[in-house]
Amino acid sequence: MELVPEKITVYAEKHSDDEPKILQELRRETWQKVILPRMLSGHLQGRLLAMISKLIKPKKILEIGTYTGYATICLAEGLAKNGIIHTIDYNEELVDFQKKYFTKAQLENKIQQHTGTALSIIPTLKDTFDLVFIDADKINYSRYFDLIINKVSKGGIILSDNVLWNGKVIEEVKKNDVDTKAIIHYNLKLKNDKRIESILLPVRDGIHIARKL
Ligand SMILES: C[S@@+](CC[C@H](N)C(=O)[O-])C[C@H]1O[C@@H](n2cnc3c(N)ncnc32)[C@H](O)[C@@H]1O
Repeated sequence: MELVPEKITVYAEKHSDDEPKILQELRRETWQKVILPRMLSGHLQGRLLAMISKLIKPKKILEIGTYTGYATICLAEGLAKNGIIHTIDYNEELVDFQKKYFTKAQLENKIQQHTGTALSIIPTLKDTFDLVFIDADKINYSRYFDLIINKVSKGGIILSDNVLWNGKVIEEVKKNDVDTKAIIHYNLKLKNDKRIESILLPVRDGIHIARKL
């Protein structure tokens, strides 16, 4: 299901800040060399993430699901002085690619890469986060939320990507479609959680913004 018409996305991109050169390069190389390039946040969502981060000026950010580092660099744009972003991905093959672009962006001292499953790494992180971006395996979104909620500062923001899951959340769910079931469960969980206030934005594949009370 096309959630936002392509022409509207193009118009919105044209009337937003340009995609920074380094991110254009990263995006192109991802499409040339890495499987599933559609997973990358891209121009419009990237500018949204950068804008949110700049509004918050977080000292500590956590990203769950680095992929090739596109969103990591966008989120890092808003980091406070001496701020740090932790980013987790279990795909070892992406580490060098990520490192190359983090270095090019002169962010190597601000980005802490973690390689391993998010479920095993999150409990080892001792920081309190002002901004969290959940963008890994959909089946574990609920578990990630449960693991991070007490590590988020008061007023901190939790962003969750792909919460419309290509529109499947409003269609009849196939019996074995565990991802769609997980996202539907997650959206309901967020709606009912009294520790946050929240809004689901129909941007790209759906971004949920939760603010910890
Ligand atoms: C949608 S991509 C992330 C895209 C990236 N945040 C961006 O916007 O450019 C999801 C990433 O999550 C990683 N991933 C999936 N399941 C994971 C898990 N259980 N633990 C850690 N990383 C995982 C995948 O390897 C993949 O690189």
